[in-house]
Amino acid sequence: VKRLAILVSGSGSNMQSIADSTNRGILKGLAAIVLVISNNPNAYALRRAENENIKAVCIERKDFEDEKSFNGAILEELQNTKVDIVCLAGYMRMIGQEIMDVYRGRMLNIHPALLPKFGGKGMYGYHVHEAVVKAGEKKSGVTVHFVEEEYDTGKIVIQREVEVFKSDTPQDVAKKVLAVEHRIYPEAIKKVVENEL
Ligand code: GAR
Repeated sequence: VKRLAILVSGSGSNMQSIADSTNRGILKGLAAIVLVISNNPNAYALRRAENENIKAVCIERKDFEDEKSFNGAILEELQNTKVDIVCLAGYMRMIGQEIMDVYRGRMLNIHPALLPKFGGKGMYGYHVHEAVVKAGEKKSGVTVHFVEEEYDTGKIVIQREVEVFKSDTPQDVAKKVLAVEHRIYPEAIKKVVENEL
């Protein structure tokens, strides 16, 4: 059973879908969430983790002198908990070099668009859907990819499209995309765990 850590900053609905799939879905017997790390003490994801009896810690940037010691604290927690695979799920910070060096090839991110379109700095969460609607795109989607130093680059594990209609608001797009995210993040983790790539 592979040991997963989920890094979060907000609602944690993707964390929940991964937890559900380890309990009674496609990841049952293959993977378990052993750690949730949030950089935001108010993240609802922390409450969800508590409800699921998953070890959860909050590591805030403001409690560290610099980026290096902040990343060091995260890495230490990951290694102490013997984490095999790290999943970013709505984690709104850059991953530090210290963590990259240890977890490269074992760290995934989910992005709410069809990368490489609508990725990069500033393109996260709701901003992505606003940009998609503004650009008049006929489709958007979800990408799960390996994490590299640059934002939203790295080898794609799974990508899935959703249709965008002329009448769709950013909220409409967000809703459709999130529903697909909840299905494909567990699928992508399964692929990585089974080493299908
Ligand atoms: C998700 O839509 C995820 O794709 C996005 O934030 C949301 C988190 O929702 N992530 C990014 O934009 C990362 N660049 P959740 O906390 O309910 O899983």
